[in-house]
Amino acid sequence: MNPSIRTTLLALTCLSALGIVGSRVGARAQEEQPQDRTLSMFMQAKLDHSKDVLEGLTVADFDQIVQGAQALRQLAENELWRVSPNMTYVRYTEEFIRLTEALEQQGREKNIDGATLNYVNLTINCVNCHKFVRDQRVTVLDPETLRR
Ligand code: HEC
Repeated sequence: MNPSIRTTLLALTCLSALGIVGSRVGARAQEEQPQDRTLSMFMQAKLDHSKDVLEGLTVADFDQIVQGAQALRQLAENELWRVSPNMTYVRYTEEFIRLTEALEQQGREKNIDGATLNYVNLTINCVNCHKFVRDQRVTVLDPETLRR
């Protein structure tokens, strides 16, 4: 066999083997995802409250900003939030708490520009933590503990 054909065949065999391994790992990661609706609804509440804050910002309703920021911070204090003891997850959580507290404060001070900037920072924090969670599959909760 021509050596370059042999190299190509070898490379193809390696690639397909990798593909098989890759898809098995993928399938296992999917099985491990928590399917529990309680956790899903809890996480979904973050989106609802951040939409409230956005609405408050757009119409300069400072009570709505303050209430949305408080509701967000309270979620971070809930045990359902602590799906991972991972240090990076904890840091994103601390940042989330710091930003929601600042947002609440700026809402009280009727500081629309500061609150808007903070809302953007908060959105970046959401996206970054989700990127991290997707990459790591950090959730460690036993699904049984979530069933009510
Ligand atoms: C410290 C990390 C962290 C931060 C910060 C964070 N989230 Fe999440 N979020 C999670 C985790 C963990 C899940 C669950 C992923 C899973 O099911 O495996 C999740 C899931 C979600 C979901 C999906 C719920 C569903 O339908 O299953 C939404 C929506 C969401 N988050 C919105 C937000 C919003 C909006 C913010 C910012 C205001 C935010 N999150 C900030 C960690 C975070």
